[in-house]
Amino acid sequence: MQQESGGRILYETASPGETRALGQRFGLAARPGQVFALSGNLGAGKTVFAQGFAEGLGIGVPVTSPTFTLLQLYPGGRLPFCHMDAYRLEDEGELEAVGGHEYLGGEGVCLVEWPEMVEALLPEDTVWIRLERLPEKGPDIRRISVEEGKAV
Ligand SMILES: Nc1ncnc2c1ncn2[C@@H]1O[C@H](COP(=O)(O)OP(=O)(O)OP(=O)(O)O)[C@@H](O)[C@H]1O
Ligand SMILES: [Mg+2]
Repeated sequence: MQQESGGRILYETASPGETRALGQRFGLAARPGQVFALSGNLGAGKTVFAQGFAEGLGIGVPVTSPTFTLLQLYPGGRLPFCHMDAYRLEDEGELEAVGGHEYLGGEGVCLVEWPEMVEALLPEDTVWIRLERLPEKGPDIRRISVEEGKAV
């Protein structure tokens, strides 16, 4: 973990398990109303992070990729958890049409994959988490940078 000037925090993980463990720590520290924007390319590790995050929140059921459902709710943990995947959305209006925006900044915690698609609906204090491959370092290495956040 590395704290940069400007409040950005950098992590580097070397396996899916490490990304999951990092997600768990964020899930343990999450507070009601928080929104986490998880950005990164296909296969960057957003869903792996989300699975750990849900574990940290105490969600007892496995979290799957919500790509085809847009939004998946998990009520069973310390806080209600909403996992969104905006990949297939054309625009923000599609999320609003299904009422998804109501979960952003509600009493639970939201984690949004492909947040760029719904950026206009995200609260000001959204925590941006960017996942990147570092192919020059190895196929399983990911750089995970967190803005607006606190180290966990
Ligand atoms: N350090 C790492 N952290 C996370 N995943 C890793 C890592 N190294 C390898 N992987 C692999 O990369 C893939 C990440 O898949 P995942 O579904 O989490 O990506 P995603 O960002 O959610 O993609 P999508 O945009 O398709 O939803 C998995 O197959 C995982 O095993
Ligand atoms: Mg995913």
